[in-house]
Amino acid sequence: MILGIETSCDETSAAVVVNGRDVRASLVSSQVALHAKYGGIVPEIASRAHIEQLRPIVEQTLAQAGVTYGDLTAIAVTVGPGLVGSLLIGVSAAKTLALCNGLPLIAVDHVEAHATSAALTAETPPWPAVALVVSGGHTSLYLVRDFRDIELLGQTVDDAAGEAFDKVAAVLELGYPGGPVIDELAARGNPKAVRFPRTWIHKPHFNFSFSGLKTAVLYYVYGAGKKYGSAQHLSESELADVAASFQSALVQTLVTKTVAAARYTGVSNVVVGGGVAANSALRAELQTACDQAGLRLFLTPLEYCTDNAAMIAALAYQRWQGDEAADLWLEPRAGLLRPGPRARDEVML
Ligand code: KG4
Ligand code: ZN
Repeated sequence: MILGIETSCDETSAAVVVNGRDVRASLVSSQVALHAKYGGIVPEIASRAHIEQLRPIVEQTLAQAGVTYGDLTAIAVTVGPGLVGSLLIGVSAAKTLALCNGLPLIAVDHVEAHATSAALTAETPPWPAVALVVSGGHTSLYLVRDFRDIELLGQTVDDAAGEAFDKVAAVLELGYPGGPVIDELAARGNPKAVRFPRTWIHKPHFNFSFSGLKTAVLYYVYGAGKKYGSAQHLSESELADVAASFQSALVQTLVTKTVAAARYTGVSNVVVGGGVAANSALRAELQTACDQAGLRLFLTPLEYCTDNAAMIAALAYQRWQGDEAADLWLEPRAGLLRPGPRARDEVML
């Protein structure tokens, strides 16, 4: 029975998970309202909100699960990657709770937790699998041989997929965060209305680049020579067409490269996690592409796509064999814990 703590970005979250799958309680306190007026996350505000939110969230989680510290086996915490100030709050709290209650402390990599969060379903994905992690901070393809052996195949060299959603939503003046709004608006638009770039879609490597797509949307919306300067001149249906065309370019790129990664590694299972894995077009198109390619797709349940502590506690359970407890010198890490190939290295097909 593991208490998970997650504070890597702008959600304060705690969860109690038994045997890596049975989620007894999972609470997420979102800071979206605090950051919305700035159009993105302000790290200082995020850290302060974590300080205020973490203790009540942990206490409510334990109460909801009907357990006390005495019932727990371990405390798991996100050690990175993320905003260092935000991570520091979770790591300090987890160390304190571990020390005061005589419990082992387990450090978990946030992106690896997204890569394995599909295991929070009824059936653990049969490893090996290719994992697509698509979130506000990351867009990566991994080869997951099992819970302990995760290899990075490629990642974005600039914007993450979620970041592209958020920035395009800002250009279209749809508010923050942009992913869910674009998802909804795109459903009413024509994905073939505008041909936006699908950068590196057929290149023989697993890296992504979404900044060109974002800029293409900006130039399209603002007009030649930025003559419009905003999205105000677009009608409701034109806005929906731009949203659908942007989403389609991004989703097609993700789906094509994920299937190519499965072929390259020779695996027959695909898992998907991270905030953008909640996107309805991505879920549908991945399902179609995997069916056509004879691959089994394991989608992370919607509630565990965006940041949550349940995936942290779940991976901690799978990793921990009693010998890997972190000590109180544990420090948060802003970057990937196991970087794999450098961003611009190409994994040749
Ligand atoms: O995993 P997450 O909660 O945080 C990070 O680890 O970054 O992902 C947040 C990102 C945001 O960029 C948000 O716009 C995006 O996930 N997102 C979506 C959807 N729901 C959330 N993007 C596309 N479609 C969605 N339905
Ligand atoms: Zn995340």
